[in-house]
Amino acid sequence: MSTVTRAADTVLDRTLLGYGNIGYLLRRTWWPEDPAPDALAGKVAVVTGAKAGLGKATAIGLAKLGATVRIAIRGDGDAARAEIERAVPGSRIIADHCDVSLISSVRDYAKNLDGEVDVLVHNAGVMPAERTETAEGNELMLATHVLGPHLLTASLRPKLADGARVIWVSSGGMYGQPLRADDLQYRRDEYKPAAGYARTKRMQVVLAELWADRLDGSGVTVHSAHPGWADTPGVATSLPTFRKLTGPLLRNPEQGADTFVWLAAAEEPGRYNGMFWHDRVQRPTHYLGKTRETAAQRQELWQACERLTGAKTDSP
Ligand SMILES: NC(=O)c1ccc[n+]([C@@H]2O[C@H](COP(=O)([O-])OP(=O)(O)OC[C@H]3O[C@@H](n4cnc5c(N)ncnc54)[C@H](OP(=O)(O)O)[C@@H]3O)[C@@H](O)[C@H]2O)c1
Repeated sequence: MSTVTRAADTVLDRTLLGYGNIGYLLRRTWWPEDPAPDALAGKVAVVTGAKAGLGKATAIGLAKLGATVRIAIRGDGDAARAEIERAVPGSRIIADHCDVSLISSVRDYAKNLDGEVDVLVHNAGVMPAERTETAEGNELMLATHVLGPHLLTASLRPKLADGARVIWVSSGGMYGQPLRADDLQYRRDEYKPAAGYARTKRMQVVLAELWADRLDGSGVTVHSAHPGWADTPGVATSLPTFRKLTGPLLRNPEQGADTFVWLAAAEEPGRYNGMFWHDRVQRPTHYLGKTRETAAQRQELWQACERLTGAKTDSP
């Protein structure tokens, strides 16, 4: 990237103008090369929450590059599988049941999954209007964005192929929140959906870094990324006012999912580990000094994830 495009890219990032489709359309004129058309031939990718929105777009993008895609979804997956197969004729899509918010479901899913996994995309996401707990007693966003993905990574670890990539789908909203390892279940403060969402999205970025440390040298790389702002069923349901205000500026799901597909398949990200990305560029994980966490807080998060999921991974 030249100095001029780097400066333009940074302005788009810091002003948030880059989060919408303008960012995608401008940056694609200068960003790194697309993966080779058959980059994922013979590979297996797992994408959670791929029934709609960015997850479905990611599954389509990975299938186009030749991957067999296992969509890990709750409820009936036939319609989503058929839709992805129609979008990518000749593709191999397998619909698996996995409720990412439930420890029991994630454990069963990982145990029963046959064969190796080359790409694991932690995409499933929610933003409930009221504080909600799963049947297992965990706050729903913590369960879906943090605990389920942590356990899935730990449980699939023996099945992750050499060269595998694990991608955590976070959000630019995490920039506004520090790591709150002291109140993981969001019991102390008054519940605000966007704040709780951003807290768990911050946790995802930290966990991705901790997993990257832990797996360093193992042949598996771990990254987190944010999609910008994309028009998806989730945004329509959870953020209707935001959607109304930003309407024509929103990305389509394919544009939002671009970096996840690129991280899974391109050569460049395989040379790094534990980075945070948006539009194929590494991004800072903090803009505000007050959001920086300590090493002790990071360890607290890791240990809480181990305790709450029953995963038995050594500390990174
Ligand atoms: N769209 C954006 O602008 C934006 C911005 C920043 C970050 N993100 C992140 O991108 C990811 C996808 O968001 P999206 O906008 O595509 O959302 P979406 O349209 O609501 O899609 C989310 C998908 O996740 C699935 N899901 C939710 N909970 C699940 C669970 N417990 N187990 C399995 N699947 C589950 C949903 O399936 P059901 O039909 O079963 O509920 C749905 O298919 C999320 O992690 C979100 O935080 C999105």
